[in-house]
Amino acid sequence: MKGIILAGGAGSRLYPLTLVSSKQLQPVYDKPMVYYPFCTLLECGVDEICLISTPLDIPRFRELLGDGSRFGVRIVYEVQEHPKGIAEAFLVGESFIRQESVCLILGDNIFYGSDVFRKAFEEFKSGAVIFGYQVRDPRRYGVVELDSEGSPISLEEKPSQPKSNLAVPGLYFYDNEVIRITRNLKPSARGELEITDVNRRYMEQGDLKVYPLHRGIAWLDAGTSSSLHEASAYVQTIEKRQGVKIGCPEEIALRRGLLESEGLEAMIEKLPDCEYKNYLEFVLNESMPLLPSHPSTELKPGRKDS
Ligand code: G1P
Repeated sequence: MKGIILAGGAGSRLYPLTLVSSKQLQPVYDKPMVYYPFCTLLECGVDEICLISTPLDIPRFRELLGDGSRFGVRIVYEVQEHPKGIAEAFLVGESFIRQESVCLILGDNIFYGSDVFRKAFEEFKSGAVIFGYQVRDPRRYGVVELDSEGSPISLEEKPSQPKSNLAVPGLYFYDNEVIRITRNLKPSARGELEITDVNRRYMEQGDLKVYPLHRGIAWLDAGTSSSLHEASAYVQTIEKRQGVKIGCPEEIALRRGLLESEGLEAMIEKLPDCEYKNYLEFVLNESMPLLPSHPSTELKPGRKDS
C-alpha cells in the first residue's frame, strides 16, 4: 500500500504564522508538524510516500525529508496547484499510486497511543477504511453515524446539526477504486473535491468500514493557533514525563528495521549538538528492553468505545 501526506492549503487560520512557512512545517513542540503524520505512516508499515503540497512549499518539504533514504523509505513530491479539496490528492498522486491501494493522511493530523492504524493497514484488503473519534464539537469535522451493528449509515461534512459525535479523523485507507470514484466526483458548493463525498460513495456501495478509536487515543489536529498550542503542550507533557519522543521518524525506522544502527550512528554524527541528537543516541544505545509503543488493540467495526 502506498501512502500520501497531504500538506497543502493556504494555512489561513494560522495567519500570520503561515506568512513565511506553511502550516505543516510549524513546530509542534520540538519537531515540524509533518513529522507526526509521517511517523503514523511509518508505524503503519508504509514504505513509499508521496507528499503533496503547494508549489511554494514543496522545496521546503524536500529539504526537510529528502528522498526518504534517511528514514529507509522512498518519498516523492507532487504539487497541488490550487487547494481544490482533499480528494484531489488521489488525482494529483495518480501516477504514484498506480494500481495499488493507498493510505491518505492529512499533514496537520497528529495521532498517538494506538496500534489500531497498523492493524487496519495489515488487515486491509479492499474497499475503504475510516475511523471514528468521539469529540465534543463534531461540527468542525466530517461526521459519521453508525447503526447498532457499527455499520455507517450517514456521513456529512461539517454539519450544523451533527447526527452523532463521531468525527472522522484525517487518516483514510482505500483500494485503487478511489481514483475512479474521485474522477467522477463533482466539486462541492465550496468548489472542492470532498473526502467525505468519496467516503459516502464507498458507504453507498457497502464497502466502507469504520473503526472506532477508543478514548485513550490522542487525535489532535493542529490547524488553529489554539489547537497548535495544545498539540505542543500534549507532546511536551508526554515526552518530559516518559523520556520518549512522539513522532521521531528515525526511531521508528530503526525499530522497524528500515535503518541499521550503523546507518543511524553515521547520521547522528552529522547532527549539531541538540536535544534531538541526544535522544537519537539514547535510542541507539538503549540497553533496556523496549516497551511496546502502543497497547494491542482488537480491530472491530462498532459503536462502543473499545
Ligand atoms: C478535513 C476533512 C474532515 C475531517 C478533518 C480531519 O477538514 O474535510 O472531514 O474530519 O479534515 O482533520 P479540514 O480540517 O480540512 O477543515
